[in-house]
Amino acid sequence: MSEWQVKRLSGSLGAEIRGPVLGQASGDEIDQIKSALVEHKVLFFPGQSISLDEHVHFGEQFGRIESHPNLKNPFTDHPGVFELAATQGGIADEWHTDITFEAQPSIMSVLHMVKCPDVGGDTMWTSLERAYAELSPPMQELCESLTALHDALPHNRPDKMAVHPVVRVHPLTGRKSLYVNEHFTRRIVEMNWSESRALLDYLTEWVKNPRFTLRYRWTTGTVAMWDNRCTQHFVLNDFEGERVIQRVTIMGDEVTGAREPKWEPFVRPGPMSATSRHDRQLALYLKAQGKGSNQPEQLTAAKGG
Ligand SMILES: [Fe+2]
Repeated sequence: MSEWQVKRLSGSLGAEIRGPVLGQASGDEIDQIKSALVEHKVLFFPGQSISLDEHVHFGEQFGRIESHPNLKNPFTDHPGVFELAATQGGIADEWHTDITFEAQPSIMSVLHMVKCPDVGGDTMWTSLERAYAELSPPMQELCESLTALHDALPHNRPDKMAVHPVVRVHPLTGRKSLYVNEHFTRRIVEMNWSESRALLDYLTEWVKNPRFTLRYRWTTGTVAMWDNRCTQHFVLNDFEGERVIQRVTIMGDEVTGAREPKWEPFVRPGPMSATSRHDRQLALYLKAQGKGSNQPEQLTAAKGG
């Protein structure tokens, strides 16, 4: 990569790369970009001029691509491209890893900033490897023993669910990441609801520690790509006017945990009560997997006075 300029952007993750022309990149250049992505987790290529077809072709060199499973493009009718426009509600201003409600969430995304505001609309990323590494050993051990239920409730599709380990292992590096996010993660499977809420509140706040993050100021034409297996991101909703991104999403692989889950799923036993509703989503998931003996439909129907 000697002829490329690579500038790290924070202590935890991210690098800006100048030199490659992404619309024509192939072969060794793609391999160099793959290596840089593993090393830095988020890459930015300012000043690119890339067509929709070139964008898709570039993404295809990293794996199978897919458009968004739930959301529609506002302007672009191109298979394989997912578009978000601020004026159409497309501002992802909650920390998340993309589409973790899928059994095999995307492994990376390639984003083209088509239009950005003069001020504001920055995006932040956080390193989930750093977030995991800086937990205490007892908290690391607890988290490695747990799984979490994710769902697409933010897209009005709570029926789309997946369970993933709370700590996942990166298939290329073997490094561990803390794999829960405030947008899609609903419940620790092996804990009761109030314990789950306390732990998820803690972990989803912990990953926001500024020490683990970078904040990127966009310019039109910048292409970014991130490793979705070990990062979360967040858009600052602090701007006026239009902000349009086009994204190619490279699909997914099995999410591998650090170890097997240590305990069975927990749905509160005994007669139903007002708090039974908190177990409903998990009970629905377990029933769909053929693992549940409760009546999830009735878990919202307990009578109270
Ligand atoms: Fe996202």
